[in-house]
Amino acid sequence: MTTHPSHVRDAARAAESPQRAEEIRAADRAHVFHSWSAQRHIDPLPVAGGKGSYFWDHEGRSYLDLASQFVNLNIGHGHPAVIAAVERQARQLCTVAPSFASEPRGTAARMIVDLAPGDLNRVFFTNGGAESNEHAVRMARLATGRPKILAAYRSYHGATATTINLTGDPRRWPSDNGSAGVVHFFGPFLYRSPFHATTEREECQRALDHLESTIVMEGPSTIAALIIEPVVGTGGVIVPPEGYLAGVRELCDEHGILLIADEVMTGFGRTGSWFAVDNWGVKPDLLTFAKGVNSGYVPLGGVLISERVAVTFDDKPYPGGLTYSGHPLACAAAVATMEAMAAEGMVEHAAWLGEHVLGPGLRELAERHPSVGEVRGLGVMWALELVRDRGSREMLVPYAAAPADAEPVNQVMAACRKRGVWPFATANRIHVVPPCNLSEAEAREGLAALDEALSVADAYTA
Ligand SMILES: Cc1ncc(COP(=O)(O)O)c(C=O)c1O
Repeated sequence: MTTHPSHVRDAARAAESPQRAEEIRAADRAHVFHSWSAQRHIDPLPVAGGKGSYFWDHEGRSYLDLASQFVNLNIGHGHPAVIAAVERQARQLCTVAPSFASEPRGTAARMIVDLAPGDLNRVFFTNGGAESNEHAVRMARLATGRPKILAAYRSYHGATATTINLTGDPRRWPSDNGSAGVVHFFGPFLYRSPFHATTEREECQRALDHLESTIVMEGPSTIAALIIEPVVGTGGVIVPPEGYLAGVRELCDEHGILLIADEVMTGFGRTGSWFAVDNWGVKPDLLTFAKGVNSGYVPLGGVLISERVAVTFDDKPYPGGLTYSGHPLACAAAVATMEAMAAEGMVEHAAWLGEHVLGPGLRELAERHPSVGEVRGLGVMWALELVRDRGSREMLVPYAAAPADAEPVNQVMAACRKRGVWPFATANRIHVVPPCNLSEAEAREGLAALDEALSVADAYTA
């Protein structure tokens, strides 16, 4: 008898009713309005199921999920303990107003606080990343009485009114009302240095000098907070040089500015630590999370609040709330997720995989493929920066490209899909951001497929 990995068997079963795919596709195309898309130009793949690091369609094809969906699936698809926890909670109590106390909410908050750095002792729960940043910014403004927020170029903080204006990339432009009270600055990015630096040390010092000048010129007394992704996510997986985040913390302290770490993407294991700031021992005043807290099995996000900020609302009410703040199903999923991650050593595994398999494997690909200008990352958070020419570093797809100009990266993605792997593509990059519990064999399978797919990008090089 031939044995197949279970995802292949499950995918074959899903393919037994191919007309389902057509029905799903038809309903989607007729009635679903998709994010970030020209509606007439998309053809979303109907997905039938998922298990571990794989998901599959209705036509018998399965894919290695090197994107963790939207970089949220840190424990992989279908974790039985999390499913059981959600089922148990659904039988007990599906929903409860935020004005009550509830067991899953309290337990999730306690567990998150226990994992968090510094004195981040309280949690305000939200439904996702953007809402978390909205509330962190509101808390910072109320706690300091100052209006402005500093945010980095090459950042993404969400798609609500405030957070899209915090965002430092072209996704902001169509919604930029110019009056959001946000000032952007350049963070360090040696490969495309805004400071003409040639070493990480130089880049770090110049980026800190630039930030200090920005603060001084803007007027420290007008700045409530600085929000930063400790490792930049969709903006390019940019790992800060040693000393940068500590330097940002120092500047914030010097000028009475609160530090908000946006750990929506980096939190809960992605960088090989529970939180990315732990890699550099930095303690923010507010820390936002979502995605990995329960791998997105049920939508959940939140703001971790330090004592310094929390006291503002000891005697005066916090002016904000959400019907589903600390939703029991989402919190039960979070408790089970954190328990599973700890019991199965997923965070340590993510660090090991980055150091011993993904990092070396991707660097090896870069040696063979002239289209790879740089490999960056840590843990299970990596990017391949694709270029037309390694010397000039001309991007394979230009900054803020029109859809037609994105074709080379679309072709690389198509080549990956053909080989059964699904990484995350954005701008001129392929991001390799798998679940934290991806096995070594799965990682090697992904690297082999990428190796073949990158020849498509090589064809565009000079
Ligand atoms: C760093 C960061 N912040 C905020 C968000 C927004 O999160 P959400 O899409 O859950 O609103 C994202 C989403 O990708 C993110 O990566």
